[in-house]
Amino acid sequence: MDIKALISRLTLEEKAGLCSGADFWHTKAVERLGIPATMVSDGPHGLRKQDQEVDHLGINDSIKAVCFPAASATAASFDKELLTRMGEAIGDSCQHEGLSVVLGPAVNIKRSPLCGRNFEYFSEDPYLAGQLSAAFIHGVQSRNVGTSIKHFAANSQEHRRMSSSSDADERTLREIYLPAFETAVKEEQPWTVMCSYNRINGVFASENPWLLTEVLRKEWGFEGYVMSDWGAVSDRVAGVAAGLDLEMPSSGGFNDRKIVEAVRAGKLDEALVDQAVERILNIVFRFTENAKPDTPWDKEEQHLLAADIAADCMVLLKNEDNLLPLSGEDEIAFIGEFAEKPRFQGGGSSHINCFKTTSALEAADGLKIRYARGYSAAQDCATDEQIAEAVAAAKKAKAAVVFAGLPDVYESEGYDRKHMRMPECQNRLIEAVAEANPNTVVVLHNGSPVEMPWISKVKAVLEAYLGGQAVGLATVRVLFGEVSPSGCLPESFPKKLEDNPSYLFYGGEGDTAEYREGIFVGYRYYDKKGTDLLFPFGHGLSYTSFSFSDLCLSSEKITDQESLTATVKVTNTGSRPGKTAVQLYVSDCESSVLRPVRELKGFEKITLQPGETKEVSFTLDKRSFAYWNTRIHDWHVESGEFCIQIGRSSRDIVLTEKVFVESTVSLPKHYDMNSIFMDIMEDPRAETILEPVLKGFREAFLSSGEEQSDAAQEAISSEMSLAMFNYMPLRTLLSFAGEQADPDLLDRILTALNS
Ligand code: BGC
Repeated sequence: MDIKALISRLTLEEKAGLCSGADFWHTKAVERLGIPATMVSDGPHGLRKQDQEVDHLGINDSIKAVCFPAASATAASFDKELLTRMGEAIGDSCQHEGLSVVLGPAVNIKRSPLCGRNFEYFSEDPYLAGQLSAAFIHGVQSRNVGTSIKHFAANSQEHRRMSSSSDADERTLREIYLPAFETAVKEEQPWTVMCSYNRINGVFASENPWLLTEVLRKEWGFEGYVMSDWGAVSDRVAGVAAGLDLEMPSSGGFNDRKIVEAVRAGKLDEALVDQAVERILNIVFRFTENAKPDTPWDKEEQHLLAADIAADCMVLLKNEDNLLPLSGEDEIAFIGEFAEKPRFQGGGSSHINCFKTTSALEAADGLKIRYARGYSAAQDCATDEQIAEAVAAAKKAKAAVVFAGLPDVYESEGYDRKHMRMPECQNRLIEAVAEANPNTVVVLHNGSPVEMPWISKVKAVLEAYLGGQAVGLATVRVLFGEVSPSGCLPESFPKKLEDNPSYLFYGGEGDTAEYREGIFVGYRYYDKKGTDLLFPFGHGLSYTSFSFSDLCLSSEKITDQESLTATVKVTNTGSRPGKTAVQLYVSDCESSVLRPVRELKGFEKITLQPGETKEVSFTLDKRSFAYWNTRIHDWHVESGEFCIQIGRSSRDIVLTEKVFVESTVSLPKHYDMNSIFMDIMEDPRAETILEPVLKGFREAFLSSGEEQSDAAQEAISSEMSLAMFNYMPLRTLLSFAGEQADPDLLDRILTALNS
């Protein structure tokens, strides 16, 4: 298809029209030229194809589909292949249903446990979010169906989501809020990007030329089209100029006319409209010319896949006395409504109309299970009778499993949580059951961390997150040992909300949300502060055990242009087969800028039989060592030693090796009259250049002049003199030189230093 030729035959009105949706879910057709309409659909963890009444909040029904685990759960798998398999399955269903683009993955950073949409997002860590989203995109797009990575960018709260400005500094945006998008774009070229509702430093994402053109296209090389989030357009003409190609859902022709008027008035270059149309049509035809409507969609098969995926996402947080796995021979109490009606997905645009669900109670059919409902999630209450019934069931059983977590209303798209607590009635229930039976297990269904006031009273906790429609099947497989848990927390679980770094500023004041904690999000903050946590980032237990040995680096010294290979041996030292996620962190041993203690820069999920050893290898490059330098507006590695660390979590490092990385970039320096001696003297040439003045100046300031009577006074005095000298600006050469002050000499010194 010669798209440029096609565009030349379109009228300005038709072109402007193509820049917005025909309705909620379709791009426009131009029948006279054979341009078809295409359909897009939420996403991301299954299809929400609405073919009747439409809305973007998951209110009206959509077709029956398969609900896979939400991103909060799949992130815990630390498994790229798993995300690819899930993407392939969703891609197949899109082909079957004629959907050109699935609206996801959603990769926003979990800045606070409170964000209502955390269940849809991967992690507090941009590297993990980037790698997993790239793997998902790879899977979907391998089926010739597009993705729409969202919500670009810095959209980490629901409060005032359509007007709030995420105000973050340059380094914070580059190191925390942009890299997940960057990795996905550079590695997988998602067909589309969805810009977010919010503003960034005052400018709406939907009309932000820096974001949509400078960064996304010029720096990262994005080739697809940018669509708006539903209703995110404020100034459509500014949006076209900034690089927003498609407005969704539509503005009933209002904004299309604005585009036409702006072109006619000479306020908008028509070439920019052509460019937007070209980008949209590229994708429209990429899909339609390769559509495979006869792709089978076997929902039963995908249900089983959803169960396999969910099982590999579960995180065993605690397992005292190896209480888990349970034995199928024993009588076990299943307590809590979620055993019967699991909470397995979140509310809002990602809400899927499941063709079936499997609860733990159904999945445990044939086992010796005694069930007590314990509470009502919808009413958020537990009656005394319900608690008494639960206690009685617990007393009679070998072990009691309480299925608890957050009811639907606690977390959803559209609003944020106000606190991090579980329902009071469930906390009460857990305490009562734990009192009745020392072998109490808690299974959690939640999209985001919760406080666990009962943690010391229960023996085991299994975090199932929102595990999709087959979560019950997966839970039973894990509880009874058919699958050994292998998930790791993709986010830190603080003990209490107040410990979270964004606690004081989250949500913002009015329409301004200041990201004041900067780059110190999640474990980057907790590890720096040494905060006592409930569970750290990366934590997750197993039914077997793994040992790590022989961490080897391919070199002791590299430049920032070279890559480094790190290999490590992992052995299954237990008696069961199992999977584990090997986590690699990089720590800058000494840095002149403020940096996190360590950052995740590699992870691999492996399967090991008992006694088996595998070697895992990681490739590290400049980005693994770099920070965003705001002086050069680029990634920069400071020459020096870095620790390469293998950890069971960000808090449990088991192996460390060092590498020296040499920077090949010399940072531009500029000195002026106000540059201080401490900075100037770091320049190797400074000693020579300043030679004519330095000696006398030093003598004046570094010797105290007076005889000191006691040693302590002398020490203070010399420390003080040194500090005085270090912090003095160059201009003080004049102030303190008295008669000898020579401004020309100072000029010559500055010229020499800056040359
Ligand atoms: C959400 C998007 C979603 C869109 C379409 C918006 O409200 O923020 O994530 O894709 O609606 O349903």
